[in-house]
Amino acid sequence: MTQNNHKASITGTGAFLPPKRLTNHDLERMVDTTDEWIIKRTGIRERRVVENGVATSDLAAQAALKALEDAGVSPKDVDLIITSTITPDSLFPSTSCYVQQKIGAKKAGAFDVLAACAGFIYALSIGQNFINAGAASNVLVIGAECLSKVTDYTDRATCILFGDGAGAVVLQKGNGHCEVLTTLLGADGSHTEVLTLPAGGSKMPSSLQTLEDRLHYIKFRGREVFRLAITSLTELIGKTITSSNLKMEDIDLFILHQSNYRIIEATMGRLGVPMEKVFYNIDRYGNTSSASIPIALDEAKKEGRLKSGDLVLLAAFGGGLTWSSSIIRW
Ligand code: UT7
Repeated sequence: MTQNNHKASITGTGAFLPPKRLTNHDLERMVDTTDEWIIKRTGIRERRVVENGVATSDLAAQAALKALEDAGVSPKDVDLIITSTITPDSLFPSTSCYVQQKIGAKKAGAFDVLAACAGFIYALSIGQNFINAGAASNVLVIGAECLSKVTDYTDRATCILFGDGAGAVVLQKGNGHCEVLTTLLGADGSHTEVLTLPAGGSKMPSSLQTLEDRLHYIKFRGREVFRLAITSLTELIGKTITSSNLKMEDIDLFILHQSNYRIIEATMGRLGVPMEKVFYNIDRYGNTSSASIPIALDEAKKEGRLKSGDLVLLAAFGGGLTWSSSIIRW
């Protein structure tokens, strides 16, 4: 599914990371692993985790308020809140409804999107379409996760990867800057089992047995996901560029979902893109699923990596399987 247009602009960005750090050395005391192994296999040095009692909407609301301030938009003028998350506060109501209440966006419609690590760009695409259709003027698009709540800290294969955080953007009618030029979405439901949180839904409601079997935690087939991620991202980025009549060298900055430094490096290597053109912060935050792209976008902007007129390519891959990409002219 592809869309091409020149209307919605990102007029504000924001991110919020909980202050508590979980370092590789902390994990060495929890499971049979080493700092060296984690850095070599993933590029991660530490990740952030929430304190007890903090929910995804708390992080999302903080990121949203920062993005709104950056855009100069009052919460009361927000028309729509779209939150991408795989760790909602509850199965329902949506995390976006909690955010709406927390930031005081009283007139906003609010709903969530679930496309795992690819979800933020799915949400961006929906927001872009609301703006382009003239159905909304101020849209908050959020990616937020409390993955520490669904991570099994007795399983060394998964617990080293995930962290908590939130990022947000404000979308408004295009003003010639930071325009979302293209979004491209895809999925392959024949691989649902390679990356999943099995229990707690209608297929496998939570029970004493699912708790005992630890099925309320994220499960994945690491090597398979690793391989599928590189193949899919390489193909996706190539397709995004050709469908926009661009060349790889036209892109000034690549921001990929922060899943594993080796996945990013291998994908960029296959595409012949030097790592100087790639933004990454996985060393500090680990994999924050939906939140990773908006956090990285906000940091790239604050670090001066995005200049007016630059073309930035976003690309993500995750459970579903799902994938998504976007090109923005900064
Ligand atoms: O956003 C999408 C979600 N992302 C993912 O699902 C992750 C994708 N996969 C990955 O990032 C990588 O596959 C991992 C980081 C999860 C694992 O890296 P790998 O290089 O694929 O390692 P592996 O699973 O092939 O395991 C190699 C060895 C195994 O030992 P043996 O069988 O060779 O003796 C594992 O048991 O490393 C062992 N191992 C560990 N050793 C120390 C696995 N986890 C750890 C650990 N510390 N934390």
